[in-house]
Amino acid sequence: MIEQQPHIFLIGMMGSGKSSVGRVLAKLLRYSFLDLDTEIERVSAKTVHQIFTEDGEPAFRDLESVTAMQLDLSKPQVIATGGGFPLKKENLQWMRRNGIVIWLQADSSTILERIVEEDRPLLPQPLRLEHIETLLNKRLPVYQQADISIDANDGDPRAIAMDIKEIIES
Ligand code: S3P
Repeated sequence: MIEQQPHIFLIGMMGSGKSSVGRVLAKLLRYSFLDLDTEIERVSAKTVHQIFTEDGEPAFRDLESVTAMQLDLSKPQVIATGGGFPLKKENLQWMRRNGIVIWLQADSSTILERIVEEDRPLLPQPLRLEHIETLLNKRLPVYQQADISIDANDGDPRAIAMDIKEIIES
């Protein structure tokens, strides 16, 4: 039996480029691409924002885990996860069991530039650098457990996707 290629899980802060890099990477690898937030929205028929405001963060986190565990992993995929997904130990373990975990490492200033105009759950308005730094610092010990970390401060998704491809194929 031919062994299936490992799935690729992209982790990292909001604004680190998981979805845009993931889409390009999937094309380069000829895998399919899945964005976990989009899948959650499809399954729940609500936006992520709605889930946070109507049901609260714990409900979103449960839905996030359940949606992931129910994914059809029969074909190799690049999966962009939400920024908080790896914080649950079982989610990180699930990703490790099923593939390669890649952290798109972006600095707070890069993230601020990319999401400053967006109204994001967990981040106040007006958004300032220290808000992002506080969240990032809390999450660093988890993100650092990725198998591979990639500098994602350069905003060119194709260049980042090609870096990842080179590393996983070497
Ligand atoms: C979150 C990141 C978001 C989304 C939700 C919570 C987080 O996804 O899952 O708003 O906790 O960092 P992206 O990282 O894809 O923006």
